[in-house]
Amino acid sequence: METSRHTLHRTASLALIALLLVGSAGVSLATSGEALAVARPTLLDVPTPTSCDVLAARPLTLNRWGFMTIRGDELTRHARRSDWAITLLDPQFRLPSNYAPASTSLTWIDTHARLSEGRGWQLKLDAAVALRAMFLQAREDAGLILRVISAYRPYDLQNRLLARLAARKGINKARTLIAIPGHSEHQLGTTVDLRGYKNGAWMAANAYRFGFVRSYLGEGRQSETCYASEPWHWRFVGTTIAYEVACSEQVLRIFLWERQHGADRVIGPNCGELTPPVDYPMPEPSPDPNPSAEVGPSLEPSSEPVQSAEPSPAP
Ligand code: DAL
Ligand code: ZN
Repeated sequence: METSRHTLHRTASLALIALLLVGSAGVSLATSGEALAVARPTLLDVPTPTSCDVLAARPLTLNRWGFMTIRGDELTRHARRSDWAITLLDPQFRLPSNYAPASTSLTWIDTHARLSEGRGWQLKLDAAVALRAMFLQAREDAGLILRVISAYRPYDLQNRLLARLAARKGINKARTLIAIPGHSEHQLGTTVDLRGYKNGAWMAANAYRFGFVRSYLGEGRQSETCYASEPWHWRFVGTTIAYEVACSEQVLRIFLWERQHGADRVIGPNCGELTPPVDYPMPEPSPDPNPSAEVGPSLEPSSEPVQSAEPSPAP
């Protein structure tokens, strides 16, 4: 199995702590090649997730209740309600069909993300509060008038949307635009579709500060996200994980995959440019494995993809 070696692993952190402890105990590491070898951080071998091409080619079947499913899919590892921030959903991993956020955790919001009473869309309360704050800031900073066009979607609603789109475009096109029931982040109750973001630049630069991540990036990242570019689709994961995702420059799918395979925090070239959440525990710097090297990797941040298209009111 192929592996990825881009991630600092828990064992690396443990090795670093061991190095610091041994160092503070006064043991000279420089005199012992063996001690140095033990202390050097190791990188985690993260298995590569099944490729999006392979997943896209998987046949669809009907389950015993008549709902569409992807052959070979699996229940996602973090499927408890309390796992909402780290639940990995893609064409491989799904929620149980009866998964729903606790009704007491859902609130109603209107198109401006204001709390409403039984009108508009449902969203988890934390996400709704953060969304409203983001709307106000986007207006103040960039004159954007953001609007909600979709939020919590129960399993059967997702199924109806898929069927409607499949009737127009065919199921093979539809499945690249809208998730098969059980595989949608909208079922978590934390995800919204928006309009009014214009070219997306403000959102790309600021959404993480409010805890939102754009799950489906464009510009060549579809092979990692498994869906077409969706500049309107934003998932609330809380400010800590949103910061770490932005910092890592990974797509959310890969970030969550690596995290569930043991990665603590992924340190990327973007970190220095971003503002961590208040009280964020910054990791210890890792020791330079090659102190004599003159030039390290570029620290220039790469820009987020910018999309100009507004969504058509569907996926
Ligand atoms: N449009 C995204 C993939 C969804 O249906 O959840
Ligand atoms: Zn969406």
